[in-house]
Amino acid sequence: MARELFSFHFAEILLPRFFIYVIIKNMGVLEVIKKRRSIRKFKPDPISEEVIDKLIEAIIWAPSAGNRQMRKFFFVFNNDLKKKIALASLYQTFIEEAPLVIVACGDKGIERYYGKRGLENYLFCDVAASIQNLLLVAEEENLGACWVGAFDEEKIKKILNLPESLIPIAIIPVGYPQKIPLPPPRKDKNSLIEIIK
Ligand SMILES: Cc1cc2nc3c(=O)[nH]c(=O)nc-3n(C[C@H](O)[C@H](O)[C@H](O)COP(=O)(O)O)c2cc1C
Repeated sequence: MARELFSFHFAEILLPRFFIYVIIKNMGVLEVIKKRRSIRKFKPDPISEEVIDKLIEAIIWAPSAGNRQMRKFFFVFNNDLKKKIALASLYQTFIEEAPLVIVACGDKGIERYYGKRGLENYLFCDVAASIQNLLLVAEEENLGACWVGAFDEEKIKKILNLPESLIPIAIIPVGYPQKIPLPPPRKDKNSLIEIIK
């Protein structure tokens, strides 16, 4: 009986899980890039500390102008704050359903190093590079996330009591997806890329 139970458990549960694990772990970067979708419906399941640490590493190891890393990320787990953030994001209420909401900020101190170009260009690029890294590692970990740019900057600054030096650039709800949408179409190669030889 015990043997039958074990072979059922192995064949029906462990083996398929093992193959899913192998497939996911063998996904190349391009496959992860293409598989990632903006997720707007989340399960309430919490995210482990180990996975959170991977998201943090992804943020840290993104490139930045002159390696100054003038960016800061707030990991919000508090329900009241998540609700306020969702309301300040033009009532995009799916944000508060995610177990984790990340607020990505750029540091205006970058102006000290790069002047106007730092403020108007590098600040946004540095934060965006970290966000894309974060989205890809989230995908690799079977998490869903959405880059949210539509929010009231002043309200977010107040909610998080941000210092004057920080500008919120994006809000990223993260959690296990409840619904994965179909991939929205992309522009074709010829309209996006121009080859110059
Ligand atoms: C700068 C930026 C701002 C965005 N703002 C929002 C937003 O406010 N709300 C939202 O639901 N999605 C937002 N998105 C997600 C896009 O709608 C999404 O990336 C796009 O439709 C392509 O879908 P995909 O991410 O599944 O490939 C934003 C994405 C970017 C890059």
